[in-house]
Amino acid sequence: MLRRIAVLVSGGGTNLQALIDAQKSGIIKSGEITLVASNNPDAYALERAKTAGINTAVINKKECGTQTEFEEKLIKALDENKTDLIVLAGFMCILSENFTSKYADRIINVHPSLIPSFCGQGFYGLRVHEAALGYGVKVTGATVHFVNEIPDGGKIIMQKAVEINDTDTPETLQKRVMQEAEWVILPQAVEKICKENF
Ligand code: GAR
Repeated sequence: MLRRIAVLVSGGGTNLQALIDAQKSGIIKSGEITLVASNNPDAYALERAKTAGINTAVINKKECGTQTEFEEKLIKALDENKTDLIVLAGFMCILSENFTSKYADRIINVHPSLIPSFCGQGFYGLRVHEAALGYGVKVTGATVHFVNEIPDGGKIIMQKAVEINDTDTPETLQKRVMQEAEWVILPQAVEKICKENF
């Protein structure tokens, strides 16, 4: 049986695109993306989902009075979808323990560094690459991990290293980490979990 995958997004959705492409090419064969949900109504990721014929949901965080209300609406959409696996792919909202414990070992996230470096609260998007360049590390990468109540603190599933060049800017590094690591290991990790963990 194909596992039902919900992808949570906030922005451009290139990782979502990598998942859609991996499903088409057969890299993901044990699961199917059945829902794309966004906290941001303007996320381009929603267009990518619609183009691929995938159901979308918008839970506008700004219109929710509290974190609890936001998460309750998200849970409703996920449960209506009969979601097996939740994939955070550029989802820029922190989830409470109430949420993460409900889906223990059923939420995974892609983070654009080699955890435990440059991760946790405040480390997201371009900031992660600014921090890596600022520190002067010569190797960075991406990590796919389970999500628990500690931001970026759950068990690691896959990692891939990427070399840093002297000429890198946060933007060039972000692009290379995506191309060489995130878009490669996120689909592989999704297939692995769908195949082995249910
Ligand atoms: C990706 O680099 C993803 O790893 C990162 O944001 C970008 C989203 O891009 N996520 C985080 O920093 C989460 N802590 P995308 O919308 O094009 O997939």
